[in-house]
Amino acid sequence: MSDRPVLGIDIGGSGIKGAPVKLDTGELASKRLRIETPKKSTPENVAKVVAEIVANFADQIGEGPIGVTIPAVVTHGVTRSAANIDKSWIDAPAEKIFEEALGRDIYLVNDADAAGAAEAHYGAAKDHPGLVLLTTLGTGIGSAIIYRGVLVPNSELGHLEIDGHDAETQAASSVKDKLGLSYEKYAKRLQRYYDVIEKLFSPDLIVVGGGVSKDAEKFLPLLKLKAEIVPAKLLNSAGIVGAAWLAVDRFQHQDLLVGSKP
Ligand code: BGC
Repeated sequence: MSDRPVLGIDIGGSGIKGAPVKLDTGELASKRLRIETPKKSTPENVAKVVAEIVANFADQIGEGPIGVTIPAVVTHGVTRSAANIDKSWIDAPAEKIFEEALGRDIYLVNDADAAGAAEAHYGAAKDHPGLVLLTTLGTGIGSAIIYRGVLVPNSELGHLEIDGHDAETQAASSVKDKLGLSYEKYAKRLQRYYDVIEKLFSPDLIVVGGGVSKDAEKFLPLLKLKAEIVPAKLLNSAGIVGAAWLAVDRFQHQDLLVGSKP
């Protein structure tokens, strides 16, 4: 692997953020650049913003692949869902659209999977020998399942149906904000959510990411679970760092890939 930093870009509902990542340490090599997500956030419009971010860091990153996150299921470069993004992403060949717009190799990955990879390689689950489940609490709930350092992609545990509801509509941190819930009240919703997660997956470690994890000491101690539950460490750079790590991993192991791309 070259010593040059690798660009990671995190596409969110309000902002698109990118930075070059030093893969030996997981640190950002430069300050993040954030550009507003276009109002009509179709793959084509978002690709234009991604191109601006790539151009901004072009001198630092060289010609290699870059990693890009998206809050959707991604199989073989095609986005398959759009819970909290423009519906035009459903079944869009997004990786190809980005590659054509940028003229370089892209690895497109679910945002929570990227955050999980980052925590597994550099953060709260570094070198963990067992089953780790990362959940990101934000607009929705994202999830990543990692067993002995290997990511099982596209788990989508924010959409478990619990008590007749899509789980993220009850326990995402956006619900706490919308309803003005105290941390005590919000913790009750999280307790129900993680009880179901424990019943189904028996993780050894649960890592909690998303913006609200900066206040982890206000609600994690209120949860009673068998698994250890800890806040994520990389906070708002997890998506960027994980995307960069996965991009390199993916292109180094092309021979092991299922499907037609790359
Ligand atoms: C989406 C996931 C995403 C999560 C966090 C959910 O609504 O279905 O793909 O990881 O939100 O952004």
